[in-house]
Amino acid sequence: MPPIDNPTKDKTNQLSHISIIMDGNGRWAKKKFMPRFYGHKAGLESVRKMVSTCIEVDIKYLTLFAFSSENWRRPKEEIKSLMGLFALALKQEVKKLNKANVKLQIIGDLSKFSKEIQELISQAINKTKENTGLVLTIAANYGGRWDILQAVHQIIKKTKQGELDESGIDEFCIESYLQTANLPEPDLFIRTGGEQRISNFLLWDLAYSEFYFTDVLWPDFDENELHKSIHSYQTRQRRFGRTGDQIELLQKQNKQ
Ligand code: FPP
Repeated sequence: MPPIDNPTKDKTNQLSHISIIMDGNGRWAKKKFMPRFYGHKAGLESVRKMVSTCIEVDIKYLTLFAFSSENWRRPKEEIKSLMGLFALALKQEVKKLNKANVKLQIIGDLSKFSKEIQELISQAINKTKENTGLVLTIAANYGGRWDILQAVHQIIKKTKQGELDESGIDEFCIESYLQTANLPEPDLFIRTGGEQRISNFLLWDLAYSEFYFTDVLWPDFDENELHKSIHSYQTRQRRFGRTGDQIELLQKQNKQ
């Protein structure tokens, strides 16, 4: 199959979608001789900062990894406190999100969450669904492999039901069954906290994204740090398989 040509992405180094693995809450708290929960609370403050900065600089999509399918392996106490924080955020933030015209969506297998959290999630999604500004996507009990797998299951079902022909199963088809189907691919992927890996986040979607790793711990990742990552992105040349000369030519044509 020929590579996908994405003309919208060839035009400029325009940045519309940022995705982030927010790592380092626990270490941040430990450095302050505080319990890990203190770090997660501070992490939520960083989430608020990211949302307002993205609105300010006109980023259209922000996707955050809040809880991975592997995070259930953490100590029970920490999971309990994270769920409490998640519930609190869903209760408290919806008003502010609406005021800022932010549309909230959640990706992941939500069936593992308590009934209370599932209810809060659907209320928050419902209340913000008409908003037209920033699309804030929270990945919760999400895994990139899980997302591809659930897409495959849906495709098999549709094929068996005769609603989908095998010849129609291409990259676009698979994409349309992912939970991220309504999002453009992330232009920039950021991971804080010093690790340099994807940890099963957006595996399909990050194929052409620019990666930015920083040692800064998530609670310290503020407006300034986000600007630094955007600046780094803007200095890069995204080639999507083409040569540098071809890209320069395309950029000149787009400026005319
Ligand atoms: C990773 O740091 C962080 C998490 C697993 C949880 C992220 C949660 C928040 C930022 C707050 C809640 C957010 C929302 C959207 C409600 P870590 O605990 O792995 O830190 P460490 O690597 O230093 O131990």
